[in-house]
Amino acid sequence: MLRTRVEPETFRQEWLSIPTSDTDFSCVAQCDGEIVGMGFLDLVDGMGQPGMPQRTQGVMGYMLEPDCAGRGFGTDLARGLLCAAFDRLGLRRVMASCNADNMASVRVLEKAGMRREQHGIQDSWHAELGWVDGYQYALLDHEWRNNHP
Ligand SMILES: CC(C)(COP(=O)(O)OP(=O)(O)OC[C@H]1O[C@@H](n2cnc3c(N)ncnc32)[C@H](O)[C@@H]1OP(=O)(O)O)[C@@H](O)C(=O)NCCC(=O)NCCS
Repeated sequence: MLRTRVEPETFRQEWLSIPTSDTDFSCVAQCDGEIVGMGFLDLVDGMGQPGMPQRTQGVMGYMLEPDCAGRGFGTDLARGLLCAAFDRLGLRRVMASCNADNMASVRVLEKAGMRREQHGIQDSWHAELGWVDGYQYALLDHEWRNNHP
């Protein structure tokens, strides 16, 4: 999601490898048969001492086809990723980050029920703007279940 340009064939190969990946559960979002966006979900480890259960956390993100923005797809996609992470993959915690000035993404994450845990001052590099502030959001499985019994 952080790339500013992609090599189409490399990108295609990356997506083709997702169905056999143990850690990459990225997906596309469709509406009436058209792809309207991409959702990213990677299994990761947090920091921990020996004995820490492996791959209990996910990092998610999303990107819409620009023409499809503003119609609720971003919010649906974020909720779908959380549903996959908690209800299908049984993850313990899911995280997501966005630039602090990305109000659409802030709203998507908050409408999906995620909790803002960090405001990182100039912690993110933007290709045109340089160092900018970032927000980190997270949600735990019991928080998800409380809202989706
Ligand atoms: C961020 C993104 C996924 C939002 O998707 P979307 O489908 O437009 O979002 P929704 O239609 O579900 O709208 C979610 C909320 O954001 C608000 N919103 C949308 N565009 C906005 C904008 N430019 N500025 C402020 N708020 C905005 C909507 O009003 C809505 O809030 P509301 O329900 O309180 O009115 C989409 O704009 C996108 O793909 N952007 C480029 C990639 C990106 O930034 N990805 C996230 C990186 S962290």
